[in-house]
Amino acid sequence: MSFAIAIDGPAASGKGTLARRIAEHYGFHHLDTGLTYRAVAKALLDRGAPLDDEALAADIAAALDLSVLDRDVLSSHVFGEAASKVAVMASVRRALVESQRRFSQRLPGAVLDGRDIGTIVCAQAPVKLFVTATPDVRAGRRAMEMRRNGDETSYDAVLQDLKKRDARDMGRKDSPLRPAHDAHLLDTSEMDIEAAFRAAKRLIDTALSDRDGH
Ligand code: C5P
Repeated sequence: MSFAIAIDGPAASGKGTLARRIAEHYGFHHLDTGLTYRAVAKALLDRGAPLDDEALAADIAAALDLSVLDRDVLSSHVFGEAASKVAVMASVRRALVESQRRFSQRLPGAVLDGRDIGTIVCAQAPVKLFVTATPDVRAGRRAMEMRRNGDETSYDAVLQDLKKRDARDMGRKDSPLRPAHDAHLLDTSEMDIEAAFRAAKRLIDTALSDRDGH
């Protein structure tokens, strides 16, 4: 039987780092579902197509191969912005959710992180985490990460940008960003990755032993 772990939260909340750490510890597959929206956005930009060409975007989404998502290329800021525009289109979401659901059934288990994993993609997941941090902390982390990659964007610009993206992700009609009713909230504002991992591990170990009947 497969075992899915759903991790949601806003940009730069620490959910991706946590998801990778969990997947590595348990030997589970990991999918950063943000990359799937970014890949569709990049394909549209590469073709010079408008980001709201829903028919083309849905075709690209339906044909997307999850095994070739390149984090280094897709992590660029322009694709994040473009992805949050592509992500408002219902037919794009339908196509991507279908392949994300298939991924979540991989054995022995799968960790998926995104915005709608606990609410839509894996609504039956035995473990759901909603990872948050204050906008200030998130902007600080993101600005530092960008400086490490040689991008000198100011903290204020990053903060404004995150707030805009949060508003778009939380305000959209289809699958808005929000915690599932049965998600565990994890505020990482004053927590490092190991502390967040320890909190998650307690929940996961309990769910795994419940599944195995002891
Ligand atoms: O997490 P990341 O910054 O890579 O996501 C890029 C954008 O893709 C998000 O701002 C959001 O609009 C969209 N997204 C989504 N649902 C997901 C993952 C990402 O709508 N499950």
